[in-house]
Amino acid sequence: MDKFVINGGKPLHGEVSISGAKNAAVAIVAATILADEPVVLENVPEISDISICLKILYEMGASIKIIDKNTMRIDTRGISDPVVPYELARSIRASSYFMGTLLGRFKRADVPPPGGCDLGDRPIDQHLKAFSALGAKHSIDGGIVSLRADELIGNTFFFDKCTVGGTINAICASVKAKGLTVIENAAKEPHIVDLANFLNSMGANIMGAGTDVIKVRGVDFLKGITYTVIPDQIEAGTYMVAAAATKGNVWIKNVIPKHLESITAKLRAVGATVEEFDESVHVYVDGPLLKTTVKTLPHPGFPTDMQPQFSTLLTSAEGTSIVTDDIFDNRFRYVSELRRMGAEITVEGTTAVIQGVEKLTGATVRATDLRAGTALVIAGLMASGTTVVENIFHIERGYENIDAKLNSIGADIKRMSDYDITRKIG
Ligand code: EPU
Repeated sequence: MDKFVINGGKPLHGEVSISGAKNAAVAIVAATILADEPVVLENVPEISDISICLKILYEMGASIKIIDKNTMRIDTRGISDPVVPYELARSIRASSYFMGTLLGRFKRADVPPPGGCDLGDRPIDQHLKAFSALGAKHSIDGGIVSLRADELIGNTFFFDKCTVGGTINAICASVKAKGLTVIENAAKEPHIVDLANFLNSMGANIMGAGTDVIKVRGVDFLKGITYTVIPDQIEAGTYMVAAAATKGNVWIKNVIPKHLESITAKLRAVGATVEEFDESVHVYVDGPLLKTTVKTLPHPGFPTDMQPQFSTLLTSAEGTSIVTDDIFDNRFRYVSELRRMGAEITVEGTTAVIQGVEKLTGATVRATDLRAGTALVIAGLMASGTTVVENIFHIERGYENIDAKLNSIGADIKRMSDYDITRKIG
């Protein structure tokens, strides 16, 4: 398995360009099932979660033409059997979106429960609540979620928990339902707005995406279009934090600064300078990093997907920082790895207490999930000496070319296999 070998201690400097948003692209690729004509998607990140979504479509009968590494033409009209392949579905969280999209098109779907990052229990009860409100029945048998409806009819329902995936599935299942669907306590993340923009460009009638009440009036036909996925908020935030954590000076291009506001505010709170432009942000640090408190919240709050990276920065901030993340049960699994590098962190339930240390030192550490993996890469960039980050397949699920991008801004990071490392050590 590949690893990253990082020679740390070098401030990042220069310009880096952000790829298309993973969490928007996985939803949009799944939503091509609802299109009645072929669609062309641009700015799709070249990451393994997208490859798996495309494989799922292909194995179900879609035709996919890769135009270049970030652009593809997808024609899902050849799908006739709404059954998602088991092993592929188990490897990503976004496979749950095939429940809403297949149900929306075929009024039935057989989908294995989704996989994805192990962040603790990740129930789908709210997704099922939405489908049931629209008139679908579900059963779970042999590990497969089966959804069946004679007709999908618009309804009003309230999510008991603010859920990104549940909101995406509710939109997809209702976009061709009869009449008006009102989704209350909807999630407001940028990828939900992007999905709604994609569907509306094809002729859907979705109002209020980005607020907590979304209204969907069902339509019969969605036409083919060319659509460009938004830039990745979390990839951008990760480079912003990496720039600050290494006391560097980096221009982060191709971003929507509005999506980054909560991250910008926290970086400013720890003493970084963040300048905002139309489509870029400039991050630099020329003094000490300071302690702060962070509490993750649904958008527009501080994203849980940025918590591991930001906590890593705080390991070298002056004083004691407190980070609370209760969106998922298990989002501090990287902490024991950071401790190997000299970080002083204690975790009590969903709160981490981080005592800043003068410096981290290189060690061999293991990525436990996607964002935890990039947190360890940031730690490796901050640390003196050499850090080896194992299990980088987690990172490749969501970051396009992270090693090349980091090297282009002054990092020293190499991808190596076990074989390369054994040879190097002798
Ligand atoms: N929840 C329920 N019942 C449900 C659905 C969710 O109780 O039916 C709970 C979850 O257990 C969690 C909370 O609601 O406590 C929020 O979960 P949500 O449904 O919003 O998360 P998700 O859709 O599974 C997406 C992202 C995650 C990101 C979360 C929160 C995708 C593919 N995944 O997951 O992204 O952390 O929203 O913003 O969009 C990542 O990119 O690294 C990642 C994990």
